[in-house]
Amino acid sequence: MKRGPSFPANFLWGAATSAYQIEGSPLADGAGPSIWHQFSHTPGLVANGDTGDVACDHDRRYSDDIALMKELGLGAYRFSISWSRVLPAGRGAVNDRGVGFYDRLVDGLLATGIAPAPTLFHWDLPAGLEERGGWLNPDIAGWFAEYATVMFRALGDRVPMWATLNEPHVVTDGGYLHGALAPGHRSLFEPAVAAHNLLRAHAAAVKAYRAEASGRIGIVVNLEPKHPSSRDVDAEAARHADAYMNRQFLDPIFRGEYPPELAAVFGEAWPTHPPHELDFIREPIDFLGVNYYTRSVVRHDSSAWPVRASRVKQRRKAHTATAWEIYPQGLTETLLWVRDRYGDIPLYVTENGAALPEPDTVAGPVLNDRRRQAFLRSHLRAARDAIAQGVDLRGYFVWSLLDNFEWSHGYSKRFGIVHVDFATQRRTPKGSAHLYSEIIRSNGASLGR
Ligand code: FCB
Repeated sequence: MKRGPSFPANFLWGAATSAYQIEGSPLADGAGPSIWHQFSHTPGLVANGDTGDVACDHDRRYSDDIALMKELGLGAYRFSISWSRVLPAGRGAVNDRGVGFYDRLVDGLLATGIAPAPTLFHWDLPAGLEERGGWLNPDIAGWFAEYATVMFRALGDRVPMWATLNEPHVVTDGGYLHGALAPGHRSLFEPAVAAHNLLRAHAAAVKAYRAEASGRIGIVVNLEPKHPSSRDVDAEAARHADAYMNRQFLDPIFRGEYPPELAAVFGEAWPTHPPHELDFIREPIDFLGVNYYTRSVVRHDSSAWPVRASRVKQRRKAHTATAWEIYPQGLTETLLWVRDRYGDIPLYVTENGAALPEPDTVAGPVLNDRRRQAFLRSHLRAARDAIAQGVDLRGYFVWSLLDNFEWSHGYSKRFGIVHVDFATQRRTPKGSAHLYSEIIRSNGASLGR
């Protein structure tokens, strides 16, 4: 029998989480508050008044969670480091107990044969820095590099791959444009400023890394193909949406320039950027992490500032509980697009997964999440198609290891391959966890054609 295309022998199979979404005890052991702690404690901003105060209690249960990862056969674990555990005020004094937590986590993973893949910033900015302007203050590039250096010195000898930022697009769009995410600003002028400072901070951390350690470092972006809805006017809307979400971050990093469409998109809110800052941002990285969840079909919509494009719901297509169209071929398209536009850089799918309606409590030993299993299979086949077309895809991290605090949705959206009963903290692997284990064991062969 002819064998289908397959995954490379050293393909990294992982799962992802982030600090504020799973750790709990956000102020324990000398940690300072983050903007997500403040945001979730502001009435009315998060569904059901949920907060990350307990979350998955991973801060105290991390050893059990490592044992769970081992049971599943994970080769790598992507987590994030809470900046305000390490530097309670965001800069200045280092909190050794905060560093100690990540030190133990990394050692525990390594002892189990799981590669640690930390992200330095997954949205939980120290509140002390928000008071100084947060991502709007140009000094933040230096603050971020100082924090990154503390972590490189503490863990750089043991951590093989680092990511600087998670999804700068969502930080600017959710945090500074429409305000549904922390710090909850609603401004027409701030998003492009925050984006530029995020990129400067990313580059500053990469440069600091070269001086401190010799592993690999990259950034994680979320990408989405933007397909025009049928009418002619929608082609421009799709181009603008693509410039705003996808190319705003990758063009500066790989080409040292912003997409030309952004001047039209932002109008008078588009800042001028000194050329030396764009040179600074164009700092070589070792890999790119791609988070892929869905595509969007867009139409021109003059009321949707600044992009003047809005998403058209695809009737008769399957959607997840977060109303995202399930569109696996978009993952192949996205990976090919990155390679064709930016060159042959090593890629990882750093997040991919689905929230689906599930009960708060599970009776049996397994929760049979058939739709997530189908989602996982179809997206892994799509990743394999990209590999067959020559994309240098090195690994895949499912989002998420555990059901967790899904930002403004609180605990109402379950993304885990392992169910968490938040009343008891009981972990129950879902069918998708068993399926994923089997895929890992066979290095993808069990996916079949
Ligand atoms: C991504 C985030 C991650 C999680 C998933 C569902 O945008 O990086 O923290 O919320 O979406």
